[in-house]
Amino acid sequence: MTYNSRLSGFYKHSLTERADIVAGWADLTIEERAALLGEAGLTPDLADKLIENAVGVYGLPMGIATNFQVNGRDVLVPMVIEEPSVVAGVSFAAKLIRAGGGFRAGSDQPEMIGQIQVLDIVDLPAARAALEAHTDELMAIAARSDNVIAGLGGGPRGIELRTFDDTPAGPMLIVHLVFDCRDAMGANMVNTACEQLAAPIERITGGRVGLRILSNLADRRLARAECTIPADVLAFEGYSGERVVSGIIEAWAFAAADPYRAATHNKGIMNGVDAVILATGNDWRAIEAGAHAYAARSGRYTSLSTWGKDAKGNLIGRLEMPMAVGIIGGSTRVHPTTRAALKILNAQTARELAEIIVSVGLAQNLAAIRALATEGIQKGHMTLHARQIAIAAGAEGEQVMAIAGRMQSEGNITLERAEALLKSE
Ligand code: MEV
Repeated sequence: MTYNSRLSGFYKHSLTERADIVAGWADLTIEERAALLGEAGLTPDLADKLIENAVGVYGLPMGIATNFQVNGRDVLVPMVIEEPSVVAGVSFAAKLIRAGGGFRAGSDQPEMIGQIQVLDIVDLPAARAALEAHTDELMAIAARSDNVIAGLGGGPRGIELRTFDDTPAGPMLIVHLVFDCRDAMGANMVNTACEQLAAPIERITGGRVGLRILSNLADRRLARAECTIPADVLAFEGYSGERVVSGIIEAWAFAAADPYRAATHNKGIMNGVDAVILATGNDWRAIEAGAHAYAARSGRYTSLSTWGKDAKGNLIGRLEMPMAVGIIGGSTRVHPTTRAALKILNAQTARELAEIIVSVGLAQNLAAIRALATEGIQKGHMTLHARQIAIAAGAEGEQVMAIAGRMQSEGNITLERAEALLKSE
């Protein structure tokens, strides 16, 4: 089978037809298809094993973004999100980017940082020197902390030391354990290794170990995506390609200069990123924490993406951010819908998944700032908002589109109007 994610007219199919198309694409089993459709999936029983005090499960829409081509491979991207316009936005942007050759993506080795806080040190430089002299011993202890990851080629990669002469709790020495987590996100394995290093570090430094925990500023595990879009591909309804290119660059410049705008600009990126993180059972809080800390790494919070143009006037976009994701471990293989999502993505490694996710972030950023710099975002939003109001008023099936369309043409999208229209049906 040749895989072409351009699935033209995918949105026109019914939900079950779309599930069938995706099931065919990814060779899903009957159970996996049922998980997509919400007929199976996370049961209360399973939920009870995942968290404490479980009382049930909570559903969210899962959509499929089309048109993605990442490093030459066509992918369908499962996205879990409640916000209208995001799935359509990334699919549209991926179509534009595809016209320029698709996403070029790359990523670092899957290395996480574990932190061990050492307090009550009398002589910081001496403690530092002692740790440096015992690096091999510490690395060997960390290597023994997880035989499975060692067998897969992962494990400790280095020990780095940082000192803070003056903190509210006095001088502090921080040991960084750099740990290759291979295809896992790795929080558990890193935390375990850090805990096992605590006693040897106390013995070597004469200090007292406090926290032993991974850092979510995963700046050793960055993923990056780039795209080039010919200006003429961006032209539409009265907007020349050049005008769209300069509008997008101006929008980015605003975010680059102003943290108030950068927060919203990056939120748009995270609309795309988080939706795939959720679909694949990864930890979206970890990704959010890493993204915003990375955006502030210069000391000033700024845009995660950059936009510019080349000598030919083509639009060039780039996004780089920490991407600590796994395809094994955590809830990735426990949640039935997540298993189906991973099968649809067919990423062979955590790094490949990271590269797809950062491409989705770049696509979502493009969709948002292209719309903001031209016609605005409310036009598209209002269509979906009207549908949500119609559903909230109790409309079902074909009533949803009919009532939403009527409210839009009247310019009166309110719950009261939707209820009145529903009564008069
Ligand atoms: C809305 O969820 C996201 C946007 O605000 C992003 C942006 O402003 O770039 C549209």
